[in-house]
Amino acid sequence: MKRIIITGALGQIGTELTVKLMELYGEENVLPTDVHKNSDNEMITSKLEILDVRDFDQMDELVKKFKPDTILHMAALLSATCEKDPLLAWDINMNGLINALEVARIHDLKFFTPSSIGSFGESTPKKNTPQTTIQRPNTMYGVNKVSGELLCDYYYDKFNVDTRGVRFPGLISHIKEPGGGTTDYAVDIYFEAIKSGKYTCFLEEETYLDMMYIDDAIDAIIKLMEADAKSLSTGNAFNITAISASPKEFTTEIKKHIPDFEIDYDVDPVRQKIADTWPEQLDCSEAEKQWGFAPKYDLEKLTTTMLTAIKEKYKK
Ligand code: SER
Repeated sequence: MKRIIITGALGQIGTELTVKLMELYGEENVLPTDVHKNSDNEMITSKLEILDVRDFDQMDELVKKFKPDTILHMAALLSATCEKDPLLAWDINMNGLINALEVARIHDLKFFTPSSIGSFGESTPKKNTPQTTIQRPNTMYGVNKVSGELLCDYYYDKFNVDTRGVRFPGLISHIKEPGGGTTDYAVDIYFEAIKSGKYTCFLEEETYLDMMYIDDAIDAIIKLMEADAKSLSTGNAFNITAISASPKEFTTEIKKHIPDFEIDYDVDPVRQKIADTWPEQLDCSEAEKQWGFAPKYDLEKLTTTMLTAIKEKYKK
């Protein structure tokens, strides 16, 4: 990667990814885009171009002007939001994706987009979920993600577009919070631990899901994009994860820092139903073998990092 355009640059992943790419590749070589400009991150907003990913002409125009060699397509709606408005989800997630793939094909760009643990379903093995296995999700988000994986494979096979991607677990961050996801509790719990010392969780205490700290997610994107194509059997939809944990386990870890921290449960049936169809622990051996995926944050390190950073944030 030398010159990069990013969609969804103000999202949970996009915000930290854009800053990291600007550090590594030079501010002048990174073009952040998003559908709005609401952010206090000056570094990003000063460069940001407004782009609705459903508008092919607008995307094509920006690519013609900026002349990138890579597009990182991050703009998408998360699982719970998709369930609220499935048609809007299809429009943004699928039409946005095919537009980004088309500009990659036409302008010969390297391509990245994330898939998710949401691409799996009830009939997928929950533990040690293999790289290649049954994918029959029953959520709109899952349908979008499986279709997206297939579409990326198609562009790779048919048009030789260098499409790459990972299946992200729930991502935990403190700079930009996620919105509308089923794994969001694992971010909210840290903010509430600092703000009020208690948290009401919308998933059951024994619900295990894959999770990862945002720094590991950003490193994974960059590592995969910089990997030699020869070392990859396919560039797409690699299983990756760092932590398999439940709300109860997050609570135990937080209590080591804040002994009075309290949790109670008010389960949201929609999000619980989604979570119940997702794996508990992905097998990441292909990502490890093919491009050296190696996360640095376990639950203990993640918890110390999150609590320290959020405390700092609220001091100001
Ligand atoms: N974090 C996402 C969600 O909960 C999963 O990819 O929707």
